[in-house]
Amino acid sequence: MPTSEPAATEPYRPRLHFSPARNWMNDPNGLLFHDGTYHLFFQHNPGGPEWGDIAWGHATSSDLLTWTEHPVAIPATDHEMIFSGSAVVDAANTSGLGSAGAGPLVALYTSAYRDHPVHGDNQAQSVAYSTDGGRTWEKYAGNPVHDRGRTDYRDPKVFWFGPPEGGHWVMAAVDADASRLVVNVSDDLLRWRTTSTFESARLPEMWECPDLFPLVVEGSRADGGAAGPGGDVRWVLVLSTSGPGQHYVVGDFDGERFVEDAAVPTGRVDHGADLYAAATFNGLAGEPGGVGLGVDAPAGRRVLIGWMGQAFRAPTSPWQGIMSAPRDLGLRAVDGVPRLVSRFSPEVGAAEREVVSVEGLAVDGAGPGGSGAGATAVVGRGGGLQQRVRARIVPGSASFAGVRVLVGEARGTTIGYDRATGELVLDRSASGVAAHDGFATPRRVPVRLVDGALTLDVLTDAMSVEVVANDGEVVVSELVFPGSDAVGVEAFAEGGGAVLDVRVADVVPEGD
Ligand code: FRU
Repeated sequence: MPTSEPAATEPYRPRLHFSPARNWMNDPNGLLFHDGTYHLFFQHNPGGPEWGDIAWGHATSSDLLTWTEHPVAIPATDHEMIFSGSAVVDAANTSGLGSAGAGPLVALYTSAYRDHPVHGDNQAQSVAYSTDGGRTWEKYAGNPVHDRGRTDYRDPKVFWFGPPEGGHWVMAAVDADASRLVVNVSDDLLRWRTTSTFESARLPEMWECPDLFPLVVEGSRADGGAAGPGGDVRWVLVLSTSGPGQHYVVGDFDGERFVEDAAVPTGRVDHGADLYAAATFNGLAGEPGGVGLGVDAPAGRRVLIGWMGQAFRAPTSPWQGIMSAPRDLGLRAVDGVPRLVSRFSPEVGAAEREVVSVEGLAVDGAGPGGSGAGATAVVGRGGGLQQRVRARIVPGSASFAGVRVLVGEARGTTIGYDRATGELVLDRSASGVAAHDGFATPRRVPVRLVDGALTLDVLTDAMSVEVVANDGEVVVSELVFPGSDAVGVEAFAEGGGAVLDVRVADVVPEGD
C-alpha cells in the first residue's frame, strides 16, 4: 500500500515522513532495525480519523524516509486496546517463542483492558511475537506478563543490558499518573521482576513513553570519534509529559536502577509544540546482527523518531498524524555540561539534490532612514515542498535575522535569531493555513551564537518544518500547512545588517 497519493488530492501528504494511508496515528512503537529493514509500528485506529480502538499499525523502510505500510500487526479486541511499547530481536531465543537458531522478534506492549472480565480496566504489559521477520504477529498465550494492578501502568521500553552472555533484559515502563518510572528485569522476556522505581520533581507531571539508553559524550573517546571503546558513557532517560512535550534526564544506570545526575540540567528533546512520544530504535546500537546491547555497545547509532500531531487536529484527510524525520542522537559537553543533541540522520542527506548555494549574502535591514523596517533577499526556489535549507547567520547589527522557508503567496515560515532576547524564533503565523490560535504566537527558545553565528539546518515536508540549530543543540519541530506554491527560500534582516550563507536542496528519496 503506497504511503502517498498524488499531491493534487492530498496537498499536505508528506513524502519524507511516515503518515498512515488513512485514519488516526499517534506514538511510534516497536522501532526495530532487523536484517537491513527498519520496522515502525504505531498507535493506530484502523477504523477512523480520531483516537480509539487502538491497535499497532506497521510500516517498513530501508532508508528511514520512504515507508511501506503493511496490515495491522497487533489488533485490538473488544476488551483490549494495544497501547505503546517496544520490540526486540530475541536472537538467542531466550523467550522460547522461536526456535534454536531462529530467534523471534518480540514486542512488549501495554494491554489497555476495557471492561475485561478478568483484568477490568487495568493497564498491564503483554507480549506478541513474530517468527517471520515481523510480517505477522501472535499474541502470547500467557498475557499479560507484568501487571501491577494499576490502570495507568504502560509504555514498556525493552532492551538488552550487558554482554551477549550474562546480560539481561530490561523493561522501563511508567505508572503514568504517578509520574513514576518502573524498572523491571527478565531473563526470558516473559517473567519480570521489578528492581527499582524512579521519580523526579525536576520534570513536569504525567509521565508517558519512557526511553532509556546509553550515549558516549562526543569527543571523550581516546580516538576522538564516536566509535571505539572507552569514553564517557552516560545514560539518558527520555519521558513525554503533560508539561508539555518530551524531556530528558542524564544519569547512570547499572542494569537495575536509574540514578539522575542532579548537576546536569534536564532538557527538551524538541522545543516544538507538536512532537511527542518519540522513541529510539532497538537493534542499531550493537554488534553486527543488530541486537541492541546495553552498556557494552553505546557506540552504535541511536536514532529517534517521534509523533507530530499531539497538539491539535490537523486539516489533513483521510489521515491524522505524521512521524518526525529520523534523528541521530548524541551527547555533547556544552560549557562542561552534557547535553542531548539531535541531528537529521545521514539518510536525509543521501536524498538531497542541491538547488542553490549562496555565501556572504549581505542583507541590510536598516531600512530607509534607519527605520529598521527590514529587508529580504530571495535565495532561490526548490522543486517542491520537500527541502533542506542550511544557513549560517551572522546577525551583525540586525535585531532579528534569519531565513524564511516555504515562501509562496503566503509569507512563509520564519526562522531567525532575536538579538535582544538571545532566542531562536520559529514563526508560523504566515505559513499558510493557521490551523489553530497557537499559530499566531511564535515559538521562542534560548540559543547561543557560536563564533558570532547561528547555524540552522531546516527540513520541510509539505506539512512540517523541523529546525536543528547549532548542530543539534536546539531542535524545534512544528506542523505548518502551506500552499503548493510555497517553494521559495528567502534571507531577511531587520533593524540592521546581517550576513548569511544559505544552501537549499530538494530532498528526493530513492524509493520515491
Ligand atoms: C502517549 C500515549 C501512551 C499510550 C498511548 C495510547 O501519546 O498516551 O501513554 O500508550 O498514547 O494511544
